[in-house]
Amino acid sequence: MNLILLGPPGAGKGTQAQELERCHGLVQLSTGDMLRAAISSGSDLGQEVKSIMDSGALVPDEIMIRMISERTDQLDCTNGFILDGFPRTTAQAEALDDMLDEKGMKIDHVIEMSVDAQVLTKRIAGRFSCAGCGAGYHDEFQKPAKDGVCDHCGNTEFTRRSDDNAETVRKRLDAYEAQTAPLLPYYRGKDSLRTVDALAEIAEVTAEIETVLGGA
Ligand code: AP5
Repeated sequence: MNLILLGPPGAGKGTQAQELERCHGLVQLSTGDMLRAAISSGSDLGQEVKSIMDSGALVPDEIMIRMISERTDQLDCTNGFILDGFPRTTAQAEALDDMLDEKGMKIDHVIEMSVDAQVLTKRIAGRFSCAGCGAGYHDEFQKPAKDGVCDHCGNTEFTRRSDDNAETVRKRLDAYEAQTAPLLPYYRGKDSLRTVDALAEIAEVTAEIETVLGGA
């Protein structure tokens, strides 16, 4: 089973992708995480994309399309994957359709995570993740069971993203409205879009996604 999670920054794509990974054995393909890993490694790609990401703009389509094409060729994707943060433009969506056709793969569900703009800033401002395994948390909505200790790997180091500051978040939201929101009618036209209420609590959103997956 291959899925796309679509929604603005802070909608909960990464949070739900981690749940789906745990429950269904799917691989989370987060283009944001891949780009941040490239930046941390100091690679040429990382140096090229750092200032773009810090500004809140989108990385060029050709870089992202190549990245996903190479990643979906890896063996762990044969059991299914969750696209978290890709596609983000119409050009990426069209390239994804062609790419999957060529590889004999398909997308089974496109899930829109629908959410009010007002909650996004609060969600993003409180977000942090485990420096060891990458598990996501929130100061208010998703605390570790034991303060300062990762539930999943026991690590005690956590990180916050450099693009989670107010100005960059505003630009990321603008980029979503201008370049990614047009994908909703694109997938609705193919009759593959299902919408979940991402304003609900995390466990309720997970349950709603499970209903979508079970209902097809
Ligand atoms: P990326 O890393 O993809 O960031 P994003 O899309 O802006 O999404 P976020 O990770 O901010 O939000 P999320 O929906 O995953 O929310 P989360 O689950 O963490 O992209 C970063 C940058 O990389 C882009 O700006 C761009 O430059 C570049 N890039 C990436 N992909 C690209 C592409 N394809 N093309 C071009 N450029 C690309 O949740 C947020 C917080 O809320 C968490 O703390 C969580 O605990 C909490 N939370 C989640 N759900 C709930 C809930 N239901 N109730 C309460 N709290 C909740």
